[in-house]
Amino acid sequence: MDARKVLIELGGRPHVYQVNIGRELLPAGGAWARSCLGADAGKIALISNRKVFGLYGEEVRESLAASGFEVCVWLMGDGEEYKNFESLTEILNFFGRRNLRRTDAVVALGGGVVGDLAGFAASVYLRGISYLQIPTTLLAMIDSSVGGKTGINTDFGKNLIGSFYQPNGVLVDVGTLQTLEKRELVAGFCEAVKQGAVGGRELFDETGEFLQNYPPGQLRKRLGDEDCLQSTENLLVSQISFKAAIVKQDEREETVRIDAKSRKILNFGHTTAHALEKITDYRYFKHGEAVGYGILVAGEISKKLEICSQDSIELLNGVVRSVGNLPDTKNIRLDDLLDLFIYDKKTIGKSLQWILLEDIGKPTILTGRDIPRSLIKESLLEVLHK
Ligand SMILES: NC(=O)c1ccc[n+]([C@@H]2O[C@H](COP(=O)([O-])OP(=O)(O)OC[C@H]3O[C@@H](n4cnc5c(N)ncnc54)[C@H](O)[C@@H]3O)[C@@H](O)[C@H]2O)c1
Ligand SMILES: [Zn+2]
Repeated sequence: MDARKVLIELGGRPHVYQVNIGRELLPAGGAWARSCLGADAGKIALISNRKVFGLYGEEVRESLAASGFEVCVWLMGDGEEYKNFESLTEILNFFGRRNLRRTDAVVALGGGVVGDLAGFAASVYLRGISYLQIPTTLLAMIDSSVGGKTGINTDFGKNLIGSFYQPNGVLVDVGTLQTLEKRELVAGFCEAVKQGAVGGRELFDETGEFLQNYPPGQLRKRLGDEDCLQSTENLLVSQISFKAAIVKQDEREETVRIDAKSRKILNFGHTTAHALEKITDYRYFKHGEAVGYGILVAGEISKKLEICSQDSIELLNGVVRSVGNLPDTKNIRLDDLLDLFIYDKKTIGKSLQWILLEDIGKPTILTGRDIPRSLIKESLLEVLHK
């Protein structure tokens, strides 16, 4: 079956690439990579982790080799804690030892952790070589693999070192979701709800309906059914198209922009999410789970500020809750969490910017100055401690 395609355009820049979405695409990954990279590409550094490579690596490697690439494999540790300087050093040393040249390329096979690290390494090695993304988690498919944000974590916080560096192509094989653990699906759907909440009523409703029909706990089993596969593909196309539209007109998330189409709106829920991840040493929450809480907190603040109706926030909360259970947060100390907000990347000038909602699909950006700390604390209390 042919792949469906979403074009990623970058506001007049000549670099344009496609996201191919479909089934059983991995066995043809080599031909796809060749079409993205051209005839000059010789070597490919295939980056993954042991788990994902064990599931899909050989298939991809064989296909790349059959299309004439010399493939070398580097497997990173599995987990957010490996998205760091040490892994970056190791991966760059690996590129050097394997003598990768400017016409060679990197292929990231895995979730957002693999994609962010491999993309960042590709962006700095020889001042930038081509890279391709083969995302294998829902979160990576709809969010991290598209749009060119790459990076690593440091002691100061998440994703603080990185680059805007676009891939040459993205390959989304829906079938890979079949092996994904439920908790990872829940995390991915939280990001999907986030995109719906800021993207528009249509995307929000499509995501909500999908969750009604195929709750994350059942999705793996049902991905064998034609109806489910079709709906999943449709949802992926809608979600990725939304992300593409945002990236097209604000590729680099310009600091001065505070309009409702700014790329910043994709950070909805992320102020609280990043603080929750940091305060628990990145070990307790999946990124997407923390985003789930972040959405609820941003909704609560929007309601308390009376910029959004109670009905809309209830609708939002209902869809977040339908994603599934999130880890318990009763032991999180709220004052410590509040203190962490000052390190957030969304701090522009002296003030943190909050992405809030006026309605479903109507985001608005407010600075921290406009929101009393006590109101933020009450909202955290409401969501995390009740
Ligand atoms: N660059 C961006 O724009 C952007 C956007 C959102 C998130 N992110 C980043 O993405 C990361 C989170 O990504 P993630 O949620 O994909 O986590 P992840 O990469 O850690 O993957 C989650 C787990 O699923 C496993 N896995 C991956 N694919 C699988 C498959 N098909 N079957 C079975 N297991 C599989 C992985 O080995 C891992 O254990 C965070 O670091 C976050 O900061 C980046
Ligand atoms: Zn995110």
